[in-house]
Amino acid sequence: MEKTLIIVKPDGVKRGLVGKIITRFENAGLSISSAKMLWLDKKKVNAFYPNDKEWILMLGKKNTEAARLRGEKLGRSEWEHGKLVRKWLMDYTASGPVVAVVLEGSDAIMAVRKLVGPTDCSQATPGTIRGDFSTDSILKAGKEKRVIYNLIHASGNTAEAKKEIKFFFSDKELR
Ligand code: CDP
Ligand code: MG
Repeated sequence: MEKTLIIVKPDGVKRGLVGKIITRFENAGLSISSAKMLWLDKKKVNAFYPNDKEWILMLGKKNTEAARLRGEKLGRSEWEHGKLVRKWLMDYTASGPVVAVVLEGSDAIMAVRKLVGPTDCSQATPGTIRGDFSTDSILKAGKEKRVIYNLIHASGNTAEAKKEIKFFFSDKELR
């Protein structure tokens, strides 16, 4: 069995979607291994998200792609956008309580990402969490100088899952 981490982000908690979101995973056969509610400060959020050049560029590329899909061009470089997005991400993630959950199951990391859907809710297929509960878009969010409110974080790969579970849960809290 594999473990992965999800976080219901502040917008998901504020909208009262914690139960509905977790149910999606349970319905798919994943089980809750550990869970807690907490309010992260910006320092903690800063330590949680990567801060390397590659990751920042990856964030910015998503803005370029979102604009390209709608035939628009952005005024900023991917690097400039990436840096702004990371900063906005600190404000957003620290803006209210979140719920962190370790989910366990067969091929859990990929299974969870599939259920969550892609970063841009406006591009997420119906049936995915981001596709069913939001129509927010990366392009609109960037214009409003904020991150997209996409309800949930999910570890992207094995290394991320291992690091992120450890970030939120001590050995004693894990089973
Ligand atoms: O959460 P996910 O792994 O799908 O996306 P990410 O690329 O790891 O980015 C982390 C978070 O930053 C996203 O979930 C969005 O909330 C935000 N983001 C954004 O608002 N605009 C972007 N161009 C890229 C990311
Ligand atoms: Mg990610």
